[in-house]
Amino acid sequence: MSQSELFLPANLLSMHCLGIAATGGGKSNFLNLVLKQQMMRGGGAIHIDGKNNKTSISDFLALAKQHNRWHDVRIINIDESSLSNTYNPLLRGDAEELTTRIMLLIGSGGDSFFRSQASKGLGAISGIVKRMGIPFSFADLSVLMGSEGALRYLLREAPKDTREYADFKMFFDQLLETDRRTGAMIVSEKKLQHTFGDLLGRLSAYARGQARDVLNAYNPEVDLLEAIQQNLLVYVALPMLSKAEVATDFAKIFLSDLRTAVGQLQSAPNDEKPNPTFLCLLDEFSSYAMPTLAPLFEQARSANICLFPFIQTVSSLSDKERGLSLDFAQKIIGNTWNKISFVLKDPESCEQMSKMAGQTLKEFVSTSVSENIGFASGDIDASGVRTSNRGKGVSTSTRTEYDAVARPEDFSNLKVGEGIYMGPSGVTKIKVPYVKLGSNNGEIDFPRFRMPPVPGLAVAEKYHMFSATGS
Ligand SMILES: Nc1ncnc2c1ncn2[C@@H]1O[C@H](COP(=O)(O)OP(=O)(O)OP(=O)(O)O)[C@@H](O)[C@H]1O
Ligand SMILES: [Mg+2]
Repeated sequence: MSQSELFLPANLLSMHCLGIAATGGGKSNFLNLVLKQQMMRGGGAIHIDGKNNKTSISDFLALAKQHNRWHDVRIINIDESSLSNTYNPLLRGDAEELTTRIMLLIGSGGDSFFRSQASKGLGAISGIVKRMGIPFSFADLSVLMGSEGALRYLLREAPKDTREYADFKMFFDQLLETDRRTGAMIVSEKKLQHTFGDLLGRLSAYARGQARDVLNAYNPEVDLLEAIQQNLLVYVALPMLSKAEVATDFAKIFLSDLRTAVGQLQSAPNDEKPNPTFLCLLDEFSSYAMPTLAPLFEQARSANICLFPFIQTVSSLSDKERGLSLDFAQKIIGNTWNKISFVLKDPESCEQMSKMAGQTLKEFVSTSVSENIGFASGDIDASGVRTSNRGKGVSTSTRTEYDAVARPEDFSNLKVGEGIYMGPSGVTKIKVPYVKLGSNNGEIDFPRFRMPPVPGLAVAEKYHMFSATGS
């Protein structure tokens, strides 16, 4: 293995990068280096950080300040609103996307009947609110799921003679029962509870407390599509240690919103795509990965966005308990043409990375000589890389001497700051320079932006009496 400077051309960067690192190997320093370079060239980034503390936020701001990019920083921190800009993940996407996004909160487990009920109800609500064309929030949603008054408000305000109105009316009628005292038709609390109970419980984490102040603005400071187009530097602090479940759910919702933004960019003309390549650093990727993310890798490539997930072990990508599978792992591995590993501690990952290193050379080096793989074109998925994407008459000789190009122990013997890169150009050992952060004496000069008020659904204010917050 040679040791040299590593230079990734832009077209390779948009082929994504998989990072793998056990704790303490120098991952944070490496990420700082990547961010530093991205800031220097005027590029934008989203950094989802699994370690949520004041120091990491202050480090991120210090780095940006060092490179005159302080005003480009936006921070999303659902754990502490005083250290967060505002962000509302329910503004982008059509009713179907929104429904899927919110349904992420109750995962794929549980009773499928109740799931489908909740999903239908949510579809009806999202549909009609989207049709009304006004922004809404988690707080609004949680009030709608528990308040007859709020539901009736939608019936009154929504434009009639629309498909969405008809759907919503049908959903609403199903909730009705006869009031034994008055004989009037009223919403059955029991039916409402059956439909939305689970979801309401999960939603409440975003509709109250610190998260409420961060996530419920109608004109928030952070919009992912604009952030990407304007090369902003978005730092997402996940409270992974203190509130693992909420953090994981939030990351999923965030990525679902990102997927919508990427989808919109993908079909945009080239001059609206980010330039230079936008970076998404996804720390602790395995803990919020979901099968629906696999296509994001393909979409991101054509939107000129580099996804850079970090995992701790190779097997975490196929963790069944997290709803992942070998198929998912293969898609991620196949869709990340660059791999970078820091010191690994589990023997299984060392083995697998060693195999991948051998594979990388076999697959890329021996064919790229004669074939010149088209990085920028074509629909290359996991299977495409390996098999179908080669023209006739291409020599695909695979030589076995490449097999031990990086031995398993090479991965476990890496020192702090050392890494092994593998990609189309081969396998290289790298040494990451130490990044000095500008000091700010622990003080945080927080970037805030005054956003003009935008009216929204605001049922949370109007029908507050019976809301998820119980107040
Ligand atoms: N390239 C480097 N050269 C010298 N020292 C380094 C280098 N990279 C990291 N270090 C030092 O090693 C320690 C661990 O580094 P770092 O915080 O980047 O690791 P990590 O993998 O992010 O750890 P964790 O899993 O705890 O987040 C730090 O004290 C850091 O100063
Ligand atoms: Mg770290």
